[in-house]
Amino acid sequence: MKKNDIDEEQVFFEMVELGSDILFSIPYQKLHSYTKHGKTSTFTHVVMVSFLSLLRAERKNKKIDKKSLVRGALLHDFYLYDWHDPSHPKLHGFRHARIAFKKAKEYYEINDIEAQIIKRHMFPLTPLMPLKKEALIVCLQDKKCSLKETRKAHPYEKYESLLDKLKIMIEEKLKQK
Ligand SMILES: [Fe+2]
Ligand SMILES: [Fe+2]
Repeated sequence: MKKNDIDEEQVFFEMVELGSDILFSIPYQKLHSYTKHGKTSTFTHVVMVSFLSLLRAERKNKKIDKKSLVRGALLHDFYLYDWHDPSHPKLHGFRHARIAFKKAKEYYEINDIEAQIIKRHMFPLTPLMPLKKEALIVCLQDKKCSLKETRKAHPYEKYESLLDKLKIMIEEKLKQK
């Protein structure tokens, strides 16, 4: 498929489908209340890293494990604290990938690809390089998103309606639980 043939909305909802057990789970909703960069919540950050990683893989026609790519990306910053809060664990940049992995394992089943995505996403700040294709894609998209969130007031303006639709879907689903 050529770059321009890809329907971004379709890829977004494919990401939602592949990550649905995480996205619609109760522990995951904690991410709405933490700030990642600028005005972007951790929830928006991880959803966008996940979506843009899948979009990248589709555009490059990469043969990858899409479900693991999406799930690993959704959980890569699942460390469950606000790093702006002075009481957060010290050396956040170096340590949060391990903390996120530990927390993710408490709530979800994690395979080897997902584990590598989470544990190695802070390379080169942390020494272990992502070797699996899925982990490399997420590592790069995470850097791009973080930069955008730090520099721009509305980094995901283009995707706001999709993010709003997802939030409504989650609210509806949780009401049924
Ligand atoms: Fe991170
Ligand atoms: Fe991140």
